[in-house]
Amino acid sequence: MRIKLQLTFIVVNLLCCAGIVCAQAKPQPPTPREDASAGEISNPAWPPSAVRGAHAMVVTDEALGSKAGVEILKKGGNAVDAAVAVGFALAVVEPEAGNIGGGGFMLVRMADGRAKFVDYREEAPGRATRNMYVGANGKVIPGASTLGYLSVGVPGTVAGMAFAQKHFGKLTLAEDMAPAIRLAKNGFPLGAKLAASLRDSADRLGKFPHSKEIYLNNGKFYAAGEIFRQPILAATLERIAKNGPSEFYAGKTARDLTAQMARHGGLITMQDLKNYRVHLREPVEGTYTARGSKWTIISSPPPSSGGIAILEALNILEPYQLRSWNDAQSVHLVVEAMRRVFADRATFLGDSDFAHVPVAGLLSQKYAAQRRATIDPKNATSSKQIGAGDPAPFDHSQGTPAGSAIEKLSPDAAAAWMEAAAQKSGHTTHYSIVDAAGNAVSNTYTLNDSYGSAVTTTDGFLLNDEMDDFTSQPGTPNMFGLLQSATNAIAPGHRPLSSMMPTIVLRNGKLSFVTGSPGGPRIISATLLSILNWAWLGMDAQAAINAPRFHQQWMPDVVLLEPSFPRAVAKDLEQRGYHLASRQMWIGEVEAIGIDPKTGERLGAPDPRRQGAARGY
Ligand code: DON
Repeated sequence: MRIKLQLTFIVVNLLCCAGIVCAQAKPQPPTPREDASAGEISNPAWPPSAVRGAHAMVVTDEALGSKAGVEILKKGGNAVDAAVAVGFALAVVEPEAGNIGGGGFMLVRMADGRAKFVDYREEAPGRATRNMYVGANGKVIPGASTLGYLSVGVPGTVAGMAFAQKHFGKLTLAEDMAPAIRLAKNGFPLGAKLAASLRDSADRLGKFPHSKEIYLNNGKFYAAGEIFRQPILAATLERIAKNGPSEFYAGKTARDLTAQMARHGGLITMQDLKNYRVHLREPVEGTYTARGSKWTIISSPPPSSGGIAILEALNILEPYQLRSWNDAQSVHLVVEAMRRVFADRATFLGDSDFAHVPVAGLLSQKYAAQRRATIDPKNATSSKQIGAGDPAPFDHSQGTPAGSAIEKLSPDAAAAWMEAAAQKSGHTTHYSIVDAAGNAVSNTYTLNDSYGSAVTTTDGFLLNDEMDDFTSQPGTPNMFGLLQSATNAIAPGHRPLSSMMPTIVLRNGKLSFVTGSPGGPRIISATLLSILNWAWLGMDAQAAINAPRFHQQWMPDVVLLEPSFPRAVAKDLEQRGYHLASRQMWIGEVEAIGIDPKTGERLGAPDPRRQGAARGY
């Protein structure tokens, strides 16, 4: 027995010396779980401290994804190569969200200080129309924007990964794709999480023959531990590795995809694929002083709403002294900031390539002061009394806001929707990477729903249902209960508004924290809280991820709390007039990396809520 223990100790040590450090998950008393969305764990084991790596760190929500990233770093790739490797690997091992048929955002900050935002968000096809999901009765057709061929936006992931690799990577696309191709070809042992999630999604996946065949084992299902091979996907990835992104946008993969679309009433054409372009954008940035340091938040610009939302929230919060989430007053102030920024999101945000988004106004300190002045120091404000603000006087950028009114708000319907939507199994995936040179990548990408539209192509990959992120009809909530305006209306070539918001934080000009999350609108709250925990409250990296989260998105006028949220604070909030959602749920899945300011070590902080995995060396 003693020998066995010693052997285990030696093996663990050897692994660590070999350069792989693993999250030490020390089980804690199980937390009761009242709702489990696909991929989330009902009783997660909370790691007490971050995983330390002297050189580099990869944190994803799938151990095989993190391993793929480390493999490429050790081959001489930089953080961007590793991010591309993880992106393709997750498309194989995490088909709920990892993808080549979806889209997302990659925020890159190179060690020399250059920060760029790679926007590879999906686009509406050329034949998409503003009211394509509205039926003859004037109402949104249930499911039309969330299931099947009509819900699919033109995918951006392959273009985005190839673009990032070409502009920022050191290896070749084929080298970065090698781990993914191997995983698809040789297979991998299917984890309990994926096996359960596939069963949970059998209804949707079973509607489409290729999805049924590949993901449901033709209706027989897979058991945890079975080797899951995807030879068709492997062949598609091999063609992309060989021919580059044009394979996906103009080659056999494009022809197969558009032929399938044409057979089933989908809209995407060869022209749509040929027209697809990655947009390299400037990130949005804000600077704040907290705990004696200067913090720079580098985040996601439109078509993400997230960067603007958290910068505006931090502007509103700047004069307040936040103490902890055991302090109801601190929670109150953050919830009120969330309420206001989500009201602004609903009205002003959309694809800034086509509509004027008053970014300068929304981010001005004077505007924040005006929004702050509407906060009651002690009690909840009703969302009905808080509309969008008026950033126009502070907006020095060009143009006038388009569609700055939500035409038909129906908050009561939205409240019911929100409760239902919050229980729904959405799945997106975020990962963070820092390499030995100090290059950092924060990447969030998605198919929108778990398994997207549920349609698998004849080339073995799932397609997104990102069209639901557009405003199907102003005043009618989308699958996340979000109300949106005409600024985010469907139009050919437009990109739907997103909450995904990869973010990088600097402390006194130096890399300090890499963060982001899945979770629909809850992405914004989870990411904001991770930053407040790390920078404002001074938590260590893992504590910043483990801390209980809360969420408010203006409409409906409900506050969501995590099961681990302190009950005394919840009671206090109720006394202040807050409506707490009757069911509790996990909020987001933040996979973060902190930098130890003293040693420069990379602190991998995986989120236990969905079995995050930090691997570094
Ligand atoms: O871009 C967005 O905001 C959504 N499509 C993200 C969806 C999501 O996070 C699903 N759940 N985890």
